[in-house]
Amino acid sequence: MATTATKFATSTSIAQGAIVVGSGLAGLSAASQLISHGVPVHLLDRAQKPGGNSIKASSGINGAPTRFQTVPDTTFYDDTVRSAGSVFSIAREQRQKLVSTLTEQSASAIYWLHDEKGVDLSKVAQLGGHSVPRTHRPEKSTVGASIVMTLLKQLKESPLFQLETAARVTRVLKSGEKVTGVEYTQDGETKELHGPLVFATGGFAGDANGLLAKYRPDLAGYPSTSDPREGTQDLLTAVGAQLLDMEQVQVHPTGFVDPKEPQSLAKILAAEVLRGEGGVLLMEGKRFVNEMETRAHITDAITKHEPLKGDIKQWDVLIVLDEGTFKAAETHLGFYMWKGLMRKTTVAELGEGVLPALQEYADAAAGHTEDRFGRKAFGHWALKKVEPETLVYVGNVTPVVHFTMGGVVINERSEVLDAEGKAIPGLWAAGEVTGGVHGENRLGGSSLLECVVFGRIAGDQASAAFKSQ
Ligand code: FAD
Ligand code: SIN
Repeated sequence: MATTATKFATSTSIAQGAIVVGSGLAGLSAASQLISHGVPVHLLDRAQKPGGNSIKASSGINGAPTRFQTVPDTTFYDDTVRSAGSVFSIAREQRQKLVSTLTEQSASAIYWLHDEKGVDLSKVAQLGGHSVPRTHRPEKSTVGASIVMTLLKQLKESPLFQLETAARVTRVLKSGEKVTGVEYTQDGETKELHGPLVFATGGFAGDANGLLAKYRPDLAGYPSTSDPREGTQDLLTAVGAQLLDMEQVQVHPTGFVDPKEPQSLAKILAAEVLRGEGGVLLMEGKRFVNEMETRAHITDAITKHEPLKGDIKQWDVLIVLDEGTFKAAETHLGFYMWKGLMRKTTVAELGEGVLPALQEYADAAAGHTEDRFGRKAFGHWALKKVEPETLVYVGNVTPVVHFTMGGVVINERSEVLDAEGKAIPGLWAAGEVTGGVHGENRLGGSSLLECVVFGRIAGDQASAAFKSQ
């Protein structure tokens, strides 16, 4: 569906509005903010349908402290820095500002979506690497689709908003030091738009033969949860943007191996919330890790074993849920069962050794023993006595390339910085296209959050620039 430009003149040097590239959550947040300031927005996306990877998000969005949390939360900043690992010491001061902005504005991001935009975010779970539950999601629907569809619907109600799909940006335009707009192709035609520019084009986890192969050749053959599409950081380095952390790629420990096409490189994510709500991971019938550790930690615990034989790199891991976990994540489970990615079965069917492993976990979850892997939070796991005929929900999972922590460097005003650390006039960026916020490991739920926080800031800044021209 390609809409035609009616409200914006193309090939003109007089900006008639701001340009946002990318219709994922970062782009939609920036566009919403621009419209709220009365600035016309021209949103371009190369895909046929808007929403990017954002629409697929299902575990939730972080925020602290919020009224939906039941325990006090003062550790979001510290958890983020700990998870970021040793690279945090490179450009530490700049990263500290970004993480402070992210965490300090997280509660207002939740309220903006929930109270102002009307997206239910009242259900809270604890994901890996978090000290307390702070990942918010709707009670009855999936988080990414709910947020994207709500923002998009409200944007479309504004006469100031114009969306063009199947419109691929191929060049960022510059006049002297200042970014002035973009060149893009649509329906075989090359067009130009001029105005303050917000870049929100997502990451390069789906660019297997391009940026991923360049920065992480060791990940060749890994499946991915991202749609195949090329990374866009090169469009921004062409106008002087600095890159950071491009080698930092998140391999998420649990993508589903679909029994119908086990060798497929495209995997559906087994959302982290399954572990957060109580799910257990088994290899060869035994637990091997604290499932509430960071993704990097769990992935390492899996990939230190030999991969399975086959065309792609994958491992034999089982995720097991009890009835309590199933109920807490019912919206997810309905979809996974319908897709044939999870099945209901008995403990006996899972083979020897599984019953004692699950009983040991159940004892720790009930508070009778310390978990031998150090797990402290057990979500809604309710099963106390494990019998051979006990019913459980299981699926096969394997590590998957999921998210790219690296990208263009921004400051806390979402301005894109050049090699000297100076802001490039006329250019802002937000979301997964940027680098430096998450270091070596992004915490689950913090990507949607960075999209909202830095997307809104970018919208505010681009709005001020438009009004002052
Ligand atoms: P995207 O949403 O990817 O949007 C980028 C858009 O830019 C795309 O629509 C793309 O077509 C467009 N684009 C790219 N290049 C061009 C170009 N040259 N011209 C025009 N348009 C272009 N994070 C969480 O915090 N919580 C979760 O629960 C969660 N679950 C996830 C589940 C899955 C399956 C996946 C894949 C990711 C998940 N993430 C989650 C991560 C998160 O969804 C993404 O990192 C985040 O949504 C990225 O948002 P974005 O706006 O930066 O980019
Ligand atoms: C997941 O649901 O496991 C993904 C969450 C995220 O990437 O933040």
